[in-house]
Amino acid sequence: MWLDGASVPTLVVDARADAERIVADEIVALLRENPALVLGLATGNSPVGVYRELCAAQAAGRVSFANASTFNLDEYLELPGGDPRSFRRWMEEHLFDRVKPRAVHMPECTALQPEPARVGEAYERLIQAAGGIDVQLLGIGRNGHIGFNEPGAPRLSRTRVVELHPATRELAASAFGAIAHVPKRAITMGVATILAARRIRVLAFGAGKAEIVKRALVDEVSSACPVTFLRGHPDVKLFVDREAAAAVTR
Ligand code: GLP
Repeated sequence: MWLDGASVPTLVVDARADAERIVADEIVALLRENPALVLGLATGNSPVGVYRELCAAQAAGRVSFANASTFNLDEYLELPGGDPRSFRRWMEEHLFDRVKPRAVHMPECTALQPEPARVGEAYERLIQAAGGIDVQLLGIGRNGHIGFNEPGAPRLSRTRVVELHPATRELAASAFGAIAHVPKRAITMGVATILAARRIRVLAFGAGKAEIVKRALVDEVSSACPVTFLRGHPDVKLFVDREAAAAVTR
């Protein structure tokens, strides 16, 4: 059911699997139409089911990623290469080891670009050179962050080094054993980088997202809640299950 009068087109599904199938099917259709599709990807719990569906579609021979390229939203700074908690490793486990895109990009320091401060500019140039992002997958942080654009992130921000919000580090603590081990900085696409994508598909599931889904739809558009900047994008859709929609449907 599409939510009536929502400030962002919002589809409420009975179960998250329904949304995962819809979004994966759309990506498969786009890839079949344009095998050189440029995908913007997110890590976290929200997109895992979409990646599972995409792996299944590839295994069934319904689609190929051999000409596609990908750009991830964000990556921690100050983790050794190949660290099991890096977003690169996470993406390999959930998608890249199986679907093998032609080119995979993460906003990270490399031998070619070892200086964090320069990585952002270089990443923006790579996105430009690829022709821009055709479809960007997005989750929502509980504090309203998109990528690692934490509260306070400007509308015009581009890929850059950011400090992680204490609440974000707290949520990541279990993966790192303790909050003290969670990196303090990351590199993230900026709000303007995300908004430049031709299509944006946002996923939010479970009761833990109910409050931020409400804020995304009704809060004043401002840096205080970066997800509100999605309003007004020409092709954005938000997919939520009943639990995540609870605060806007009652
Ligand atoms: C993380 C990531 C975001 C992600 C968000 C939501 O911190 N940097 O890109 O979208 O938080 O995560 P989840 O989907 O696990 O709720």
